[in-house]
Amino acid sequence: MGILRLLLFTGVIVVNAQQAALTEDSRCGCYLLKGNETAYFREHRFFDFRNHDHHASVPPVIKEVKDTADAPVTSPFFNSTEWTDFWMISNWNNSHGIREDSTWLMVNSPNNVYLEANHDTNSSPKSWLSLRTQRLPEFQTTAEIESLSAKFKFVSIRMLARTIGARGAITAMFTYRHSEELAKVQESDLEIRTSDPKNIIHCTNQPSLNSEGDIEARASKNATMPNGLEWSDWAVHRLDWTPKSTTWYVNDIQVANTEFQTPKDVSNIILNAWSDGGEWTGNMTVGDSAYLQLQWFEILYNTTEPEKRQGQGGCNSVCSIDGSPQVGQPVMLWSNGAGRGLVLFRGWVPVTLMILLFLFA
Ligand SMILES: *[C@@H]1O[C@H](CO)[C@@H](O)[C@H](O)[C@H]1NC(C)=O
Ligand SMILES: *[C@@H]1O[C@H](CO)[C@@H](O)[C@H](O)[C@H]1NC(C)=O
Ligand SMILES: *[C@@H]1O[C@H](CO)[C@@H](O)[C@H](O)[C@H]1NC(C)=O
Ligand SMILES: *[C@@H]1O[C@H](CO)[C@@H](O)[C@H](O)[C@H]1NC(C)=O
Ligand SMILES: *[C@@H]1O[C@H](CO)[C@@H](O)[C@H](O)[C@H]1NC(C)=O
Ligand SMILES: *[C@@H]1O[C@H](CO)[C@@H](O)[C@H](O)[C@H]1NC(C)=O
Repeated sequence: MGILRLLLFTGVIVVNAQQAALTEDSRCGCYLLKGNETAYFREHRFFDFRNHDHHASVPPVIKEVKDTADAPVTSPFFNSTEWTDFWMISNWNNSHGIREDSTWLMVNSPNNVYLEANHDTNSSPKSWLSLRTQRLPEFQTTAEIESLSAKFKFVSIRMLARTIGARGAITAMFTYRHSEELAKVQESDLEIRTSDPKNIIHCTNQPSLNSEGDIEARASKNATMPNGLEWSDWAVHRLDWTPKSTTWYVNDIQVANTEFQTPKDVSNIILNAWSDGGEWTGNMTVGDSAYLQLQWFEILYNTTEPEKRQGQGGCNSVCSIDGSPQVGQPVMLWSNGAGRGLVLFRGWVPVTLMILLFLFA
C-alpha cells in the first residue's frame, strides 16, 4: 500500500516536473533541433488551424478564369496580422510557361485557401486549413501560400497534414529560391503525387537533373510512409534544411536524407496543391479535385533579416520543440543564468523530496 502510494505520488510529480519545463517563446533565446543534423535556430512560429470553426466555410469553386486570381480571401483570419505578417496567398498563373510540359492553364486563387470545419463532431480537430485544386473545363484552379520573407536560411518545417482527393495533382511543402534560370533554382521539396501508391512520398533537392538533363538519383528519393501510414492519413510531415543536408521525417521517423544539392542560399517557404497536366502531376479529370489539409504548421528558422526579437541573450536560454508535451509550445532545456544542471535539478527536487518524505516520514 505504502509503495503503491509512493509510486502513484512520484508518478504524478514526475509528470508535473516535465510540464514545468514547458515555456514561452519569449523566454527562449534559441532552439535546439534534435534530428539527423543537430542545429540551433533563433526563431519559432506555430500556426494552429484546429480551433477556427467559427471562421470556417468552404467557398464554392470560382469557375470563371477571369475572376479566379483576383478572388478575395475566404475568411477574416487571412486578413489578421497573425497570418499576414508571415504568409501571402499566391495568385500567379502559368501562362508564361513555368514548366515546359504543362498542357493547360493553371491559376492560383485565394478562393482555394480556406478554413474548413470538421463535420465529424465526434472527432477532433474542430477545423483545418485546406488548399484546394480542381480541374475545370477551361483550366485548373490551384492553391498556394508562400512566406512573405524570402530570407530563410535553414529551417525545420513541420505540418500535421493529409492529402486527399483525385488523381492528377501534387501537394507540397518546400523551400524555394527563385531564379530565372532553372538550373539555379534551389529547393528542398516534400511532394505527394495523388496518382501514386498511397504510401509513397517524394523527397527531393532541386535542381534534381544533372548536366545531361537526366534525373540525378542522389537528389531525389521516393520514400515510404512508415508504420503502414498513407499520405491520406493525418501525419506530421517534417523537412529539416540544415547546412550539410536535408532530412525528411514522418511522425518523427526519418524517411529520407540527402547531402546532394542541399540549398545554400536564402529561400522562401511554400505550400501548395496544383496540377498542370504535365508529366509530373498527370492529368486530373474535369470536375475532380484534390486537397492538402493542415491542422497546424510549425517552423524553426534562421533568417538573414534584421532580428525582431531581442533580449533573450542568444543561446543563453536554449529551448526545444522536439519532445514538447504540447505541440506548438517549446520546453526549456537549459538557461545559462540558472546553469544547465540546475534546470534539470529543479524539476527533480520535489520528486526527491517526496521520496525522502515517504521513506522516512
Ligand atoms: C543521417 O542520415 C544518414 C542517412 O540515412 C545516416 O547515414 C546517418 O547516420 C544519419 N546521422 C545521424 C546523426 O543520425
Ligand atoms: C542560426 O543562428 C544562430 C545565431 O546566429 C547560430 O548560432 C546558429 O548556428 C544558426 N543555425 C544554423 C542552422 O545555421
Ligand atoms: C480582407 O481585407 C480586405 C482589404 O481590406 C477586404 O476588402 C475584405 O473584405 C477582407 N475580407 C474578409 C473576409 O474579412
Ligand atoms: C496570368 O498572369 C499574367 C501576368 O501576371 C496576367 O497578365 C494575366 O491576366 C493572368 N491570367 C489569368 C487568367 O489570371
Ligand atoms: C519514383 O516515383 C516516380 C513517380 O511516381 C516514378 O516515376 C519513379 O519511377 C520512381 N522511382 C523509383 C526509383 O522508384
Ligand atoms: C494529359 O492530357 C494531354 C492532352 O490534354 C496529353 O497531351 C498528355 O499526354 C496527358 N498527360 C498524361 C500524363 O496523361
